[in-house]
Amino acid sequence: MNKNVLILLIMVLGLAGCDSHSPGMGRSISSFTGPVLQRYHDPQQVALGDSLYRQHCIQCHGQNGVGAEDWRHRDTEGMFLPPPLDGSGHAWHHSTAELKQMILKGSPAGQGKMPAWRDTLSDSEVDALIVWLQSLWPDEVYVAWDEMQQNNR
Ligand code: HEC
Repeated sequence: MNKNVLILLIMVLGLAGCDSHSPGMGRSISSFTGPVLQRYHDPQQVALGDSLYRQHCIQCHGQNGVGAEDWRHRDTEGMFLPPPLDGSGHAWHHSTAELKQMILKGSPAGQGKMPAWRDTLSDSEVDALIVWLQSLWPDEVYVAWDEMQQNNR
C-alpha cells in the first residue's frame, strides 16, 4: 500500500464518527477539510446485484463477498482462490471498468477458475453486481479507491 493511501486511511478511520446522512442524496464522507466525496449506491442496482450474487457468485466468493479463507495462497494446481470482494481483498485496487472486464472475461487461462460471465449475464447485470460489491466497501476503502481513480485520471 502506498504512503498516501495509508495516511488517508488513518485520517478517515479517525473520523468515522463524522459521517452525515442525507436520505436520497447519498452520504457524504467528511474530513478535516469538509466533505471528501458523496457515497451513493443505487438501491435498485444493489438489490439486483445482491440477488445475482446469491445465484452465481456466492458459492466461490462466500457470504457477503468474504472470499475463500486461504485466498492469498494458490491451490494445489497453482490456481488463485476466490478473493474477497468486500474491500478486504484487492478488488478495490481496480477501476469499475477493470472489474467489469474481469467479470465478463473471467480468469486468464491458467490463473484461476473464475468463469467468464459474458454469455450468462447482461451488461446491466454486471454493472449491478459491481454497484453491489462496491456498496460493501467500508468508507475508508471507498475513499482510498476514489483517490486512486483520481490519480489515474
Ligand atoms: C467457480 C468459482 C467462481 C465463481 C462462481 C465466481 N468467481 Fe469471481 N473469482 C474466482 C477466482 C478463483 C478469482 C481469482 C481469479 C484470478 O485472479 O484469475 C475471481 C476473481 C474475481 C474478481 C477479481 C477480484 C480481485 O480482487 O481482483 C471479481 C471482481 C470477481 N471474481 C467477481 C465475481 C462475480 C461478480 C461473480 C458472479 C457473477 C463471480 N466472481 C463468480 C472464482 C469465482
